[in-house]
Amino acid sequence: MFVLPSTGLEARLARKPSGLPTADVIAIVETPLPRPAANEVLVRNIAFRLSPTIRMMISEGAENVEGVPFPALRVGEVLREEALGEVIAAPDGHALGRGDLVLHHYGWRDYAAVPVANCLKVSRDVTDINLHLSHGWTAYAALTRGLNISHGDTVFISSAAGAIGSMAGQIARLLGADKVIGSTSTRAKADRLIRELGYDAAVIRGAGAMAGQLAKAAPQGIDAVLDSAGGEALQAAVEVARERARILVIGALSGQLDAKGTGRRAPVELDSFKLLLKKLTIRGYSADDDPDARREWDSHLGRCSAAGQIRFPHEIVRGLRHAPEALAKASRGEFFGAVLVVP
Ligand SMILES: NC(=O)c1ccc[n+]([C@@H]2O[C@H](COP(=O)([O-])OP(=O)(O)OC[C@H]3O[C@@H](n4cnc5c(N)ncnc54)[C@H](OP(=O)(O)O)[C@@H]3O)[C@@H](O)[C@H]2O)c1
Repeated sequence: MFVLPSTGLEARLARKPSGLPTADVIAIVETPLPRPAANEVLVRNIAFRLSPTIRMMISEGAENVEGVPFPALRVGEVLREEALGEVIAAPDGHALGRGDLVLHHYGWRDYAAVPVANCLKVSRDVTDINLHLSHGWTAYAALTRGLNISHGDTVFISSAAGAIGSMAGQIARLLGADKVIGSTSTRAKADRLIRELGYDAAVIRGAGAMAGQLAKAAPQGIDAVLDSAGGEALQAAVEVARERARILVIGALSGQLDAKGTGRRAPVELDSFKLLLKKLTIRGYSADDDPDARREWDSHLGRCSAAGQIRFPHEIVRGLRHAPEALAKASRGEFFGAVLVVP
């Protein structure tokens, strides 16, 4: 029988980093279990996703920015990130009950009191419940709603070994893309993209001009671009784009993970003549604007994973006490796929 402990661990911001976060910016603290209010459930976290982009909320000088879904954190506050948890106690008369699995945004702690309205109930009927923490639905939303991938497209996905990119390449293929090319930072990751995730080719940041590498990988040009990186990857995409290519900007990792600044700016120089002459479309996109895509993806998820059509590349970090070091490693790009912490 599960006996509820009286305390749990949580990760608090100990100080604001001035560059990329190091492990010592986070303190792991033991606290009494939270007491849920009348409209809250008590949740035991099973796992949470660790994203280096949390750096935008914890950096020195970070402020709330309109359009950024998470607020800047103050020293002493508990870090936040999407988590999968099990309801331990629920108020009467609500849709959630003990034992339900829910997604919410109170990761970085063992136990959380979460408003019922902020919980998304998810199914246990999947091959691996951690799949709920994959960014598959974000990638699916962007590829179907933002880019309208169609049969025969040549697709370029920047930051292809990241949490979104590692799902996006596989999904683009299922949606009918003819050729899928990714960008990453090392030869070893590039080899894994091709060997494990079905990418046709990968270009490597820092291994010579990316536009030249991309042109070689896609001599006929690119039709659709899912861009998480900005910077050189976006420049390369514009250079190699075919006429009327679609470019969807979903992230700005070149700025978000730039050691200088707060990670909230990602300036890039583009040749506007190329935009004009090739009649390119560049569009910013947030999957949160298409919640129906999440429902659609969730119904695909079980089938695709059961049929072995989709893998969920992820690395598991066991123990909340190891999460600060994992964040430092993630910020240095040392992982492949999503990073999940099992507290
Ligand atoms: N629009 C939306 O709906 C939506 C939703 C969620 C997240 N996002 C955004 O989407 C983007 C991707 O998210 P994610 O969770 O997939 O990211 P992630 O897994 O946290 O990506 C981390 C990876 O970024 C790469 N990277 C590090 N420094 C870089 C640099 N200077 N330039 C380019 N790449 C660098 C590294 O991969 P390599 O070693 O392979 O280069 C690193 O492993 C982020 O910008 C995130 O904020 C968008």
